[in-house]
Amino acid sequence: MNPRDTRQQRSWDSDTLPEGREKSAMVRSMFDAIAPRYDMVNRIMTFRLDVQWRRRAVRDLALPPGSVVLDLASGTGDLCIDLARAGLEPVSLDLSHGMLANDRSGAPRAQADILRLPVPDGAVDGIVCGFALRNLVDLPVFFAECARVVRPGGRVALLDVGVPHNRVIRWGNSVYFGRIVPRIGALLSDAAAYRYLPRSVAYLPAREVLVAMLRTAGFPDAVHHQLSGGLTQLMTGTRASGGPDRDTTGADSR
Ligand SMILES: C[S@@+](CC[C@H](N)C(=O)[O-])C[C@H]1O[C@@H](n2cnc3c(N)ncnc32)[C@H](O)[C@@H]1O
Repeated sequence: MNPRDTRQQRSWDSDTLPEGREKSAMVRSMFDAIAPRYDMVNRIMTFRLDVQWRRRAVRDLALPPGSVVLDLASGTGDLCIDLARAGLEPVSLDLSHGMLANDRSGAPRAQADILRLPVPDGAVDGIVCGFALRNLVDLPVFFAECARVVRPGGRVALLDVGVPHNRVIRWGNSVYFGRIVPRIGALLSDAAAYRYLPRSVAYLPAREVLVAMLRTAGFPDAVHHQLSGGLTQLMTGTRASGGPDRDTTGADSR
C-alpha cells in the first residue's frame, strides 16, 4: 500500500465530515475498500429491507419494458439486477473501481463521476440512484445532470437513507445506526466506514429542500415518499420538456 492510500483510508476515520474534493476522494477510496463485503453487510444491517427499497424504486420509476435506464452510483449493481428483472435496459456508472469490479448484474458499466455524466442530452428514458445522494459534493449539479440526460417524459427514482419523523423510530434508528451498525461493520468489514456511513446522513438537506431542488432542475411533478417509517426516502419525478423550472418553490411533498 502506498502512503497516499494510507492517508486516504485514515480520512474516513475522522469526526469531521469532509467537503468538496476531499470528500469525493475519500468516498471513492472508502467504497473501494469496503466493496468486497458491501452487499453482505447491507443485507445484514438492513435485515434485507434494502432489497425491498430498491424494488420499490424500480416499480415507482414506472417505465415500460425496453426503456434505457442509467443506474447512477450503481455500486455492485443491485438496482441493475432489479431493472433487468423488470424488462428495462440498465447501464451502470460509478466512481469506485472496487464497487464496479464487484458488480453482480452483468449490466454494461463504466467508471464515471455522476456529477459529469458522459452521456448526451436527452439520451436515456430514466435514471435510478440508490443511497448515494449524501456522498455527492453538489446536489443541484447532480439534479441538473439528471435533467440534461433524461428525455422529456422520462423518469427518475432516487433513494437514500432518511430521518424518520416519528420520535421513537428516530431514536431507535439513531441508536441502531450509531452504535450497532459500526460494530457489525467492524466485525465483517471496516469499522470506520460503517461509523462514517450513518453520520453522512447529515449531508442531506431536509426532504422539502430536496424535492424543491429536483422540481427546479426540471422534474416539476417530483414527489417524496418515506419508506419503512422514514428509514429510507424515495423521490420520483417526470422530466418536463424545456429547461429547468425557475418558478418552482414547491416544498410540498407526499
Ligand atoms: C452506498 S453505495 C450505493 C451503491 C448502490 N447504488 C446500492 O444501492 O447499493 C454509494 C455508491 O456511490 C458511489 N459514488 C459516490 N459518489 C459518486 C460520484 N460522484 N460519482 C459516481 N459514483 C459515486 C460510490 O462509489 C458507491 O458505490
